[in-house]
Amino acid sequence: MPDKIFADQRLADVYDYFDSSERPDLDPYLKLAEDFNVQTVIDLGCGTGNLACKLAARGKEVIGVDPAAASLHAAKRKTYADMVKWVNGTIAELPDDVKTDLITVTGNAAQVFLTDEEWLSTLRKCRSHLVRGGRLVFEVRNPEKEAWKSWQRESSSDVIDVPEKGKIETWSELLDVQYPLVSFRNTFVFHSDGTVITSESTLRFRSKTEVIDSLSEAHLIVEDVRDAPDRPGLEFVFIARNPD
Ligand SMILES: C[S@@+](CC[C@H](N)C(=O)[O-])C[C@H]1O[C@@H](n2cnc3c(N)ncnc32)[C@H](O)[C@@H]1O
Repeated sequence: MPDKIFADQRLADVYDYFDSSERPDLDPYLKLAEDFNVQTVIDLGCGTGNLACKLAARGKEVIGVDPAAASLHAAKRKTYADMVKWVNGTIAELPDDVKTDLITVTGNAAQVFLTDEEWLSTLRKCRSHLVRGGRLVFEVRNPEKEAWKSWQRESSSDVIDVPEKGKIETWSELLDVQYPLVSFRNTFVFHSDGTVITSESTLRFRSKTEVIDSLSEAHLIVEDVRDAPDRPGLEFVFIARNPD
């Protein structure tokens, strides 16, 4: 069950306004798709479809997969959305015969897989959908940087004026750190009618070594672990290849 921030239609409709509208984090993924000369991409945990639509605009055949129907609904309004195949579900919902050159998991979506079982079965499923030599590329926050320490109301508070929806105030609050699990709450106050919606999330922080070990357990070859250029020193970006 996806968090309310992705699954509540009112929140999904304003999600992009609270993320950086330029999304510089997606540029390296677009470049990788070009460098690897891929034709087909599955964007797993595609959310509101930013990367999927950008890839479709570059002529790639894209499948966007996400269990949050509200986020997909927002995605479908974007330019090039009609060129993307949208699947409401997890990777488990994809038919076995779907094969792709590249699977992307952006926006730290890889941290939503809380248990080892869920994470490993997702990695194995990803491998089963990759052509021989196909790649899985995803990012996670470097746990040593303890990003959660700034998930406090004082440092995260923001007000955005969203076209046709008016001012929306938001902030994050750390609820619990049971390392490697970190829980927090996002609050949204819609000034137009006073509605307050809260969304609680838990993320799993895995070390670089843990992720590398899990990839090899899923029989994926780690080609590279990079930095995210827009968040230097804060992230690990993994590039793994299906050898079979
Ligand atoms: C932080 S958002 C990132 C969205 C998008 N990748 C981006 O960069 O904007 C995390 C996404 O993971 C999705 N998600 C949650 N559980 C999932 C699962 N089991 N499989 C795939 N995606 C999932 C959520 O619905 C949400 O859209």
